[in-house]
Amino acid sequence: MFPIHRPRRLRKTETIRRMVRETSLSPDDFIYPLFITFGRGVKKEISSMPGCFQESVDKVVKSAKEVYSLGIPSVLLFGIPEHKDEVGSSAYDEHGVVQKAIKTIKNAVPKLYIITDVCMCEYTNHGHCGIVKNGDVQNDPTLELLSKEAVSHAKAGADMVAPSDMMDGRVRAIRLALDREGFKEIPIMSYAAKYASAFYGPFREAAESTPQYGDRRSYQMDPANRREALREVALDIEEGADIIMVKPALSYLDIISDVRDAFDVPVAAYNVSGEYSLVKAAGKLGWIDEQRAMMEILTSIKRAGADLILTYFAKEAAKILNK
Ligand code: PBG
Repeated sequence: MFPIHRPRRLRKTETIRRMVRETSLSPDDFIYPLFITFGRGVKKEISSMPGCFQESVDKVVKSAKEVYSLGIPSVLLFGIPEHKDEVGSSAYDEHGVVQKAIKTIKNAVPKLYIITDVCMCEYTNHGHCGIVKNGDVQNDPTLELLSKEAVSHAKAGADMVAPSDMMDGRVRAIRLALDREGFKEIPIMSYAAKYASAFYGPFREAAESTPQYGDRRSYQMDPANRREALREVALDIEEGADIIMVKPALSYLDIISDVRDAFDVPVAAYNVSGEYSLVKAAGKLGWIDEQRAMMEILTSIKRAGADLILTYFAKEAAKILNK
């Protein structure tokens, strides 16, 4: 009690603050998303995500080298294919954009750990995350396509696959398919508690994956649900997920914290496109100190319990941390 206790004593200088700091960030915590597009010589800035680009396979090598040289161990690959169809066949084409990018990046930066996003929405002409029949996304038939996609990424040399579709049973289906094809050692990071969120808006421009009708509420989670996240995560772990993810991060810090307390597998959190764009927009307007807001957000995600953070801020934050 005051005057015996004075918490300000431990806040007096930066040195003592450093000594008692409970949470620290490192470039090791980050996974940087890359958007691979078709063609050659393409590097196109995503207007709603300043500093992020769609890049063709030849251009992405330079970005991959930069990421690794900043001490960031891993990238997450998304593909924007030349052809989209009803069943997203470019997703599991061995000559697809992601498959090519994996080989090219592995060749140039062998130690960079490549994770691939496994989903249908970038590859289907309707923009939904699976096969659609009578306006509804068909769960079980979609599992087969996701398994084919995951196996084709593994064949191309991916280090880990990350299903983001939110179909029931997909972790098990992918695990069985990988094992059957000889990829027993490839881990799965599942987007386990993925909410139907407005914060994915800018990403859908980046990945050209906006649903042409309807929305994703029949497969992604209701933002109002907290207990359900624990059920989703438990199921994915039972099905064989090695790392589980909560997405988005910022409006879901309670979920990250719950999941951290309830399970002992590594927890990843996806600091999504809308969370990035808000900071960038306010920074541009001079309404916020962009760098401080960025570091505060990343620290809060880590403090909530995330071991890994997927973030478009990875390069900028690593530059600050490396100083
Ligand atoms: C694909 C996918 C999405 C994101 C990652 N994987 C979009 C969606 O579900 O609509 C969002 C990432 C972001 O907003 O940064 N299903």
